[in-house]
Amino acid sequence: MTRIYFNEVATRDGFQIEPAFIPTDVKVALVDELSGCGYAKIEVTSFTSPKAIPMLRDAEEVMGRIRRVPGVEYTVLVPNLRGAERALESRADELNLVMSTSETHNLANLRMPREHSFAALAEVIRMVDGRTPINVSLSTCFGCPMEGEVPPDVVLGFARRFADLGVRGLTICDTTGMAHPAQVARLVEALQKEFAALQLTLHFHNTRGMGLANVLAAVQGGITRFDGSLGGLGGCPYAPGASGNISSEDAIHMLDAMGFDTGIDLHRLLAVARQMPQIVGHDVPGQVAKAGRITDLHPAPASVAELKETFK
Ligand code: COA
Ligand code: ZN
Repeated sequence: MTRIYFNEVATRDGFQIEPAFIPTDVKVALVDELSGCGYAKIEVTSFTSPKAIPMLRDAEEVMGRIRRVPGVEYTVLVPNLRGAERALESRADELNLVMSTSETHNLANLRMPREHSFAALAEVIRMVDGRTPINVSLSTCFGCPMEGEVPPDVVLGFARRFADLGVRGLTICDTTGMAHPAQVARLVEALQKEFAALQLTLHFHNTRGMGLANVLAAVQGGITRFDGSLGGLGGCPYAPGASGNISSEDAIHMLDAMGFDTGIDLHRLLAVARQMPQIVGHDVPGQVAKAGRITDLHPAPASVAELKETFK
């Protein structure tokens, strides 16, 4: 049975676009519940500027208060050296560095040209010097909502430059749900050819309903690591038109049904997923938490028993 590794990003990507501040206590309690569900990794928060992402201004406190379960990696998003210092101080298990493959999105999101981001992140990698594993999330790899197409060579070029700096993993992000399965298959093939030795993760948003189809295309191309967000929350506040990540529980439910080993206790995860509307104060897009698993059957109406008698 192929093992698939899930990284839960609800408290980072999921929460960062929510308008109403989610109390620190609620974030800590949610991470603690997720820690018991079988995730390989949880992206707890981000060490970004509190002006850019006010929702995650409590990053230190959250990292300090969560209960760390052995076997679960607690990662954090980091945009610059200052963020890396804060992340190390908070004893993150991994630093997830971020930059965009689109110049326009990088300027909108990180307020600097891509080359400045690359230089800053290279400096972070030198500073960390192997003390903590580094993952790099490359945004807008399947298209930029402002520029349009991002050529695969540009994506592969940044991937190559980070691979040369010795990172452990790369996350290929579809920031605003522009990817389609054929495109995913092509990019995954190219990535697997060149970076098979790295941990390759795919990060999809379901903005146009193609999220799970893209997961399937990636799995068929040999990818075994995915980001997902409970309830299907999420989105980059600096990418116009952004909306939710793929719902973790929907993706895990699909892969479970297909016979993959996700390591997740889906029953337990769905119980947590059902708390999401209350936590964020609105309905969420995830479907399986509402519909139940395909194995959760309904009683037949009384009329069926009568009809069974009649037609005996
Ligand atoms: N953590 C906390 N504060 C930070 C910081 C960090 N990692 N990086 C910068 N700051 C602070 C500076 O101290 C400064 O504070 P001050 O105004 O009180 O002096 C302020 O932010 C501006 O610093 P500067 O270096 O000029 O940054 P900037 O305004 O050009 O912003 C980023 C650059 C990268 C820090 C900011 O755009 C950011 O955090 N973006 C994150 C976007 C994001 O997470 N998007 C969603 C995920 S893809
Ligand atoms: Zn995202």
